[in-house]
Amino acid sequence: MDGLTVVILTAGEGKRMRSRQPKVLHTMCGRPLLAYPLRIARTVADRIVVVLGPNGEEVAQAAGPDVRTVAQRERLGTAHAVLQARPECGNGRVLVLPGDMPLLRGETIEALLEQHARSGAAATVLTAVVPAPHGYGRVLRQRGRVTGIVEERDATDAEKKIAEINTAVGCFEGGDLWAALEKVRPQNDQGEYYLTDVIGILARAGKRVDAVTVPDPSDALGVNDRRQLATVAAIQRQRVLDRLMEGGVTVIDPATTYVDDTVTIGADTVLQPHVMLQGKTVIGSDCMIGLGSHVSGCQLGDHVRLHPYCVLTDSVIEDHAELGPFCHLRPQAHIGPKAKIGNFVEVKKSRIGRGSKAPHLAYIGDATVGEDVNVGAGTITCNYDGEKKHPTAIGDRVFVGTNSTLVAPVTIGEGAYVGAGSVVTHDVPPGALALGRAHQVVKEGWATKRAAARRAATKPADKPAE
Ligand code: UD1
Ligand code: CA
Repeated sequence: MDGLTVVILTAGEGKRMRSRQPKVLHTMCGRPLLAYPLRIARTVADRIVVVLGPNGEEVAQAAGPDVRTVAQRERLGTAHAVLQARPECGNGRVLVLPGDMPLLRGETIEALLEQHARSGAAATVLTAVVPAPHGYGRVLRQRGRVTGIVEERDATDAEKKIAEINTAVGCFEGGDLWAALEKVRPQNDQGEYYLTDVIGILARAGKRVDAVTVPDPSDALGVNDRRQLATVAAIQRQRVLDRLMEGGVTVIDPATTYVDDTVTIGADTVLQPHVMLQGKTVIGSDCMIGLGSHVSGCQLGDHVRLHPYCVLTDSVIEDHAELGPFCHLRPQAHIGPKAKIGNFVEVKKSRIGRGSKAPHLAYIGDATVGEDVNVGAGTITCNYDGEKKHPTAIGDRVFVGTNSTLVAPVTIGEGAYVGAGSVVTHDVPPGALALGRAHQVVKEGWATKRAAARRAATKPADKPAE
């Protein structure tokens, strides 16, 4: 087994997260932290090995079926962690990536691998020059050449002044790595087996060790606590927005726009302020996503208009549809082309046909609505009988008058009318008019007579005393 193996380390304790969830499953812009090194690994690796800690099954599940996993049963340090992967690695090159450094860029890793292949080094480490190196391992050099790495807690005062830090990313020749790992001893402040000691071991054996420095040190930010999680997420959020803007999307206010890394958006679409787009949302071109809208797991065609404050979940919206303000699509709503779902309308598990309108105050659930239907203000599909959900079918060109109550299961045939205020409990045939309400009664003069009677009864008491 030759070629490149990428080993991703995830077995650390993640104590500072104070979480029951494994650290690498915390999300950044909609993807677990682990997804970021995995994405890079998939573009360069011949095989990927993830080193799992406790709760490893969950992490393995998230990693996916193309990834091999090994368990590190005791947390004895990063060198020990890499050694656990040895049976899965073969004899080829090994790239080690920490699971908690999600801002690393693919280009950086490609540059590291190229440099490593070109120089013929036994190891090439990725370093960063940072203004505040506290807490990181420092890169030791003599006459420019890397001679070792010393962890903060084992460093002398002079070493602590070094601004070049170890990112924990490194590329190794397999033979050199495995031989050196056998020689690592836990002689340090933490009593752990440090992967970083491999560098000194190789250098002392006269092997060549190189370093590549990341151009932007923020790429090497690690996530050890929730503040750092927020810091990296803010950077990634800006990167996502930059990518969208480069692709022709207008973002009115990047500071208040939250788009997951998993979202795609077509050119000339405009995102108004305070928009949040999540999950596998796909938005076409020339759409308007209104102020304060939240869209999760939806597919929007082209020229879709969301007026302010729409909340859309797991739904499909076709070309030229118009939604909101204040509309709520719950899972499995399918809004046809040119359809209009307006103010305070909730739609769940329903299809709305081409050009149909429900402009105000309605609930449409478990319904199939044909084309060019008008659903009047205040229409409610009564889909639930307390035990089961029932379907409503509304044919093409039906006119449902305002404040109608459609008691499912019920079918309203093509072209039929439902009078305003009706309670429809029986199917309505095509072309019919359904009226399901009490007849209006008019009592001529009733109010006038009552007012006169009241005046007569109160008059004497109103008179002032003489
Ligand atoms: C490590 C480096 C340090 C570097 C820093 C960059 C070592 C000894 N130190 O320190 O030089 O500056 O990263 O962020 O490598 N892990 C395991 N098993 C273990 C211990 C750790 O899988 O027994 C994993 C962790 O899940 C993590 C990675 O290894 O993904 C790094 O471990 P961590 O404890 O975070 O190391 P740092 O102290 O940050
Ligand atoms: Ca770390």
